[in-house]
Amino acid sequence: MLLTYLYGLQDVFMFNKRIKIRELLNQPADGREVTVMGWVRTFRNNQFIALNDGSTNTNIQVVLELGKFDDVLLKRLTTSSSIKVVGHIIPSQGKGQQMEIKAAHVEILGDADAEKYPLQPKKHSLEFLREIAHLRFRTNTFGSVFRVRHALAFAIHRFFHEKGFVYMHTPVITASDAEGAGEMFRVSTLPLDNPPRKEDGTIDFSQDFFGKATNLTVSGQLEGELAATALGEIYTFGPTFRAENSNTTRHLAEFWMVEPEMAFYDLEDNMNLAEEFIRYIIRFVLENNREDLDFLAQRLDEEEKQLPMDKRSDMGLIQKLEFVVNNRFERITYTEAIDILLQSPAYKKKKFQYDVKWGIDMQSEHERYLVEKHFQKPVIVTNYPKDIKAFYMRQNDDGKTVAAMDILAPGIGEIVGGSQREERFDRLTGRMLEMNIPADELWWYLDTRRFGTVPHAGFGLGFERIVLFVTGMGNIRDVIAFPRTPKNAEF
Ligand code: 4AD
Ligand code: MG
Repeated sequence: MLLTYLYGLQDVFMFNKRIKIRELLNQPADGREVTVMGWVRTFRNNQFIALNDGSTNTNIQVVLELGKFDDVLLKRLTTSSSIKVVGHIIPSQGKGQQMEIKAAHVEILGDADAEKYPLQPKKHSLEFLREIAHLRFRTNTFGSVFRVRHALAFAIHRFFHEKGFVYMHTPVITASDAEGAGEMFRVSTLPLDNPPRKEDGTIDFSQDFFGKATNLTVSGQLEGELAATALGEIYTFGPTFRAENSNTTRHLAEFWMVEPEMAFYDLEDNMNLAEEFIRYIIRFVLENNREDLDFLAQRLDEEEKQLPMDKRSDMGLIQKLEFVVNNRFERITYTEAIDILLQSPAYKKKKFQYDVKWGIDMQSEHERYLVEKHFQKPVIVTNYPKDIKAFYMRQNDDGKTVAAMDILAPGIGEIVGGSQREERFDRLTGRMLEMNIPADELWWYLDTRRFGTVPHAGFGLGFERIVLFVTGMGNIRDVIAFPRTPKNAEF
């Protein structure tokens, strides 16, 4: 009773009683009247509209009976104009689709001037689409990418929720450099042209908004550790910022990072969690976004056909994802990784641009050799030299390495960076002193080691890097809506 009453009200008052195309396509073409709204992809022969509403890449075909609709209206049915259609769903007369809508009523919601609209119903390059990122959502590729990105984000929350982790929102503005790498964007309200100065000529940040120098966060980890050493298991999932001048297909100045942090975990627990986590979110997308993945797989296939044989991947996208879900990652130490590189034909034939020896920070060519050529699967590299890793990593007994772990993925390189944390107060402060990390400013961080310190560990997953991996896209700028990169902050 109540429901019919409410439906009645909806009929009278609501503009939007549409059904989404994705839902409609799963229903029988039984002649029922439906309302759909969306954007015109194409309009052919003054009869056939391919309509898309963003719920799926599959367009619904709307058929206009010849002679029934006004010429003025027909002229306004241009690519990307938005319309409301009321009509009946019937089995399709034509090929290519199961059902279509026989239109009874078509209303233009918004015109799109065909002369000026930059997206034509043809294939555009990804580079071109990046310049019109505000409109690229209206293409199949980006529809799929952003639905998959959403699904991954949702799966991440679900994974941690099911495990009893607490989602922490760590600050975006901080006064500390969590990675100690100095790649920070300053946050300040001081006048740029004439900032107040101290007697020695340096800028006087005590007069700044926060009374000290602040920056955008490079990682929520340090605050995450504070929470984990009380709540047990937490994760963050938020934007992070790096002012590194890396103009690569893998780096953004603003990216999203997932950072779980767990009390009572050692390095091995950490690796096990990271592996289970990555498998879980990929499986989720395989199960829930098959249509989008199939589309992206086909896109990748076509793209790879342009490449010479030896540059093509052995596996298609779906095969690759299934492989990751079903196989354990390889686990090796940094020292073993360096040995493999030194023994490799690539090294012997001087194919690497950068030198290989114990102590180097592996370059992406080295990482990719390990995962793509040598192991052909994701690899977890552990126990890196302490001199190339952050101050907070737990020092191993050999005096040379730390309990770090990076996960390297085929086609991407580093996707996860993490470690067991140095929980011993003296060892931690000793390392901070060696690395010029200001211990007095991090008094609050050190308090966790002063009061009830525990072994703990965590890692950071670069969200856009996993989206790259899962969608098979080649450039990180194409998996975030509005990329921030050196010399680019459009939109
Ligand atoms: O290895 P990173 O720098 O580790 C941390 O920030 C730790 N605090 C994480 C932790 O232990 N809680 O960054 C973690 C991951 C990298 O593995 C990479 O996937 C991603 O973040 N990442 C970037 N992604 C896009 N653009 C950049 N400029 C990135 N820098 C790091
Ligand atoms: Mg790293």
